[in-house]
Amino acid sequence: MLSVNELYVRYGRAQALRGVNLHIDEGEIVALIGRNGAGKTTLLRAITGLVKISSGEVRYKGELLNGIQAHDIMKKRIGHVPQGRQIFGDQTVEENLILGAYTKIKKNPALVKEWIEREYTRFPRLKERRKQQAGTLSGGEQQMLALSRALMADPEFIVLDEPSMGLSPLFVKLILDTVAQLRTEGKTILLVEQLAKAALSISDRAYVLSSGAVEITGASSELLHDEKIVQTYLGA
Ligand SMILES: Nc1ncnc2c1ncn2[C@@H]1O[C@H](COP(=O)(O)OP(=O)(O)O)[C@@H](O)[C@H]1O
Ligand SMILES: [Mg+2]
Repeated sequence: MLSVNELYVRYGRAQALRGVNLHIDEGEIVALIGRNGAGKTTLLRAITGLVKISSGEVRYKGELLNGIQAHDIMKKRIGHVPQGRQIFGDQTVEENLILGAYTKIKKNPALVKEWIEREYTRFPRLKERRKQQAGTLSGGEQQMLALSRALMADPEFIVLDEPSMGLSPLFVKLILDTVAQLRTEGKTILLVEQLAKAALSISDRAYVLSSGAVEITGASSELLHDEKIVQTYLGA
């Protein structure tokens, strides 16, 4: 479904990605782990058109995405739940959801309404807080909203950047259980996660990124039992 081939990205003179190779098949949950600064966010941003690719390729269903604007990549049904959530704090919960569906709202308002209800069923807390300003939500609620907002664009492939960051254990579990659940809705997922153990336990395969390149890849179940991985990345 997605293939990344010999991908290089730099910020000025700083090389953030140095020849990344990765692929994701339809229906998979793939985890991307690695230390701070390894290039995980940059890779997600290269896939969704938010940073310029220096060389190499990103292909989605065979089509080259290089150079395509972020909003046009979104129209190809690729969703991005960014690091730090980036919801619209001065808009209500419901307004944020509607904004997530902005490409559909004019053409099919009834469908958008139906999807809002679908998200309220997924996260009843969002329904309780539908008229509340998003900036006043707790971190966990904001993460629910960020995920629901991305789902309002009806993506078939979703990249998530550290959805558990800063959340209490209860919310971490809720969010990661929800991510695992998305598979049953036919979604394909690339999950960046600091909580490597949790990410490996809900994913099929994983890539470990180190200094801008893939250091290790394999079945998540095998990586969970790999002494070197456990010691280097799963210490916590
Ligand atoms: N906007 C930017 N300008 C310059 N350097 C950046 C920028 N964003 C990230 N970097 C650098 O690129 C490297 C990879 O960063 P990032 O993709 O955010 O890593 P991760 O998400 O794995 O923590 C780091 O060395 C970081 O300092
Ligand atoms: Mg990051």
